[in-house]
Amino acid sequence: MTRIRFSGCVLSLDDEAPRYAEASISRVSGARYDGVADWYDREFATGELAAAPRETAVRLLGEGAGKLLDVGCGTGAHTAAFGEHGWDVVGVDISEDQLRLARERGVEVVQADVAALPFDDASFDAVISMWTHTDVDDFSALLREAARVLRADGPFVYVGAHPCFVGPHSGFISAEGVPELHPGYYWRTERHTEAPGISPQGLRAKVGATHLPLGHFLQAFPDAGFRLERFEELKNREYPYTVALRCRR
Ligand SMILES: C[S@@+](CC[C@H](N)C(=O)[O-])C[C@H]1O[C@@H](n2cnc3c(N)ncnc32)[C@H](O)[C@@H]1O
Repeated sequence: MTRIRFSGCVLSLDDEAPRYAEASISRVSGARYDGVADWYDREFATGELAAAPRETAVRLLGEGAGKLLDVGCGTGAHTAAFGEHGWDVVGVDISEDQLRLARERGVEVVQADVAALPFDDASFDAVISMWTHTDVDDFSALLREAARVLRADGPFVYVGAHPCFVGPHSGFISAEGVPELHPGYYWRTERHTEAPGISPQGLRAKVGATHLPLGHFLQAFPDAGFRLERFEELKNREYPYTVALRCRR
């Protein structure tokens, strides 16, 4: 068996051309969702909270016309849905536990760090990422890698937490009502597991949260080489919990 080492990832090749699903990772760091994947999938990826963001992502992506990469795909619930809209989907995530559920959904997955994607330049027709800027250590690196693997003029869709109202600075439990903002946290970009906006029983107490102020978040897209095409705040709540955007490179 031949082994090809990519940065952060080892692909095992038999006689056939490599399939993404055969990728394995040599050293996993930051797989914070290992051990909470089933709970995450039930509460967040397939629950009521997931429906409107997923519909928005599907609308911004459009019907499939080629290969789609889902960066930080988690349990693959959204990834599988994109497949139902005609896309030939591949998911990438660092957590083996999350990827276990994605595989059970029939999604083709690769275990890798979003900061070093094991794919060729311009090898995807579209790229999507959902709910990742609050989880990855380096969102700018994720965006640079998304831009690199996307073909010229292909769409990159991002859906995630609204930086103004969701984060360590904001009590917005279950995205209900009016968020309660707290001083001393909005400009801090380090990972938090305890803060006024983090419920001790919630996801962020388990896996932590990174926070980007709105300006840092938005500026990261043009800095990675994208041009913004659409930017939306989901209106399904009293205050917006979710932002969604489409850009191209
Ligand atoms: C909030 S979950 C979102 C999962 C999925 N996109 C969804 O919407 O259900 C964040 C995901 O990012 C993944 N992640 C965090 N850091 C990562 C990294 N450096 N490389 C790859 N995946 C990472 C986690 O394992 C987790 O599955």
